Amino acid sequence: MASLASKRGAVLIGNAKYISFITTSSRHASLVSTSRKSSTSPTRKSRFIDYREDVQKPRVIITGGLGQLGQGLAESLRRQFGSENVLLTDIKKPSQNILESGPFAFADVLDTRNLRELVVNHGADWFVHYSALLSSIGESNVPLAMKVNIQSVHNVLELAREFNLRLFIPSTIGAFGPDSPRDPTPDICVQRPKTIYGVAKVHAELMGEYYHHRFGVDFRSLRYPGIISADTEPGGGTTDYAVDIFHSALDNESFQCNLNPDTRLPMMYIDDCIKGTVQFMHVPSQMMKLRTYNVNSMSFTPEEIALEIRKHIPKFKMSYKVIPMLQKIADDWPKKFEDTNARNDWAWSHDYDIEDLVHVMLEKLRMKRHLQNGGNVKTAA
Ligand SMILES: NC(=O)c1ccc[n+]([C@@H]2O[C@H](COP(=O)([O-])OP(=O)(O)OC[C@H]3O[C@@H](n4cnc5c(N)ncnc54)[C@H](O)[C@@H]3O)[C@@H](O)[C@H]2O)c1
Repeated sequence: MASLASKRGAVLIGNAKYISFITTSSRHASLVSTSRKSSTSPTRKSRFIDYREDVQKPRVIITGGLGQLGQGLAESLRRQFGSENVLLTDIKKPSQNILESGPFAFADVLDTRNLRELVVNHGADWFVHYSALLSSIGESNVPLAMKVNIQSVHNVLELAREFNLRLFIPSTIGAFGPDSPRDPTPDICVQRPKTIYGVAKVHAELMGEYYHHRFGVDFRSLRYPGIISADTEPGGGTTDYAVDIFHSALDNESFQCNLNPDTRLPMMYIDDCIKGTVQFMHVPSQMMKLRTYNVNSMSFTPEEIALEIRKHIPKFKMSYKVIPMLQKIADDWPKKFEDTNARNDWAWSHDYDIEDLVHVMLEKLRMKRHLQNGGNVKTAA
């Protein structure tokens, strides 16, 4: 996809900061801002900023798209670019719903020939590389994690170079380690992670930035906190408890947590993660001072999220059975993420804090149970 030569201009309208840009290319770029207030969202503090290029819609491939994050991202991109422009891929079998929602293809990220064929046949402009083994799963199968999380990065970087793709590879709070400043953790600091997941993500950040400087590849990365979602299951990360707790609270009014009560970790509601990723993919290169940015919205401990849940389910009880391997990982990770660069450079902002998160998660999961039970809602509150 042709790059947009642009100039930056920032305008403040009401509470929302809009960043507009003037293109000097023949392509017409426009700024669209919508306040997308969802029925499940209790409060919306900021607006969605969308650098929409309305002449040519990029064609997108997402790998590992059947995990926790891929489907939400595909849905959002398909709303903007049209369903047929966004190809979801994975090595898992898709459900009927997924097959009906847009194009899907099998893609093993270790098979370069397969990936190349998809890039060519789909005419891809953007490539979102989501395939990975997450922190906890990675530790239980290091050789496979090295393949999926490291080898695949080499494959997609070479494709990005050859086919001039805008390449997004997410990073994580797990890319930091015990030697990093943890409260808060800035973008640029010591990164000596102790998990294969973290090592692989630092490798992806550095290789992506190297390919950018050496070959001009439009590599982009956001370091996500632990992502919390109601519609999709987490994939074996250290922050999974923060999703499981909501299911258990509704089913049993109790939860056994595998991390210590005071383990503070950065977290984010999935809508903020998807919104930020889509927004970041649109940002003109000239506005990016970094290629890898921290994004943050909230940090909490198991004790604090339990307190918040108790406001909705007063009988909710929390017990603790710590898994040492997970606790060790969490103890080395940032407590709080510093993301002023993302906020200053491309106007990143989050919508959900802990109160909003608990409200929306309980509301969504109750609705899901309601539909599954044919209308009988169990009202725990
Ligand atoms: N979910 C989070 O909290 C979080 C936080 C930080 C960063 N991230 C990053 O975001 C990305 C997406 O995360 P997620 O939570 O959706 O992960 P997930 O574990 O839920 O999904 C990963 C997907 O990768 C697929 N996969 C595994 N091996 C593959 C292979 N050989 N070829 C193709 N696909 C393969 C799996 O089938 C799975 O569907 C990952 O890169 C992850 O590191 C996620």
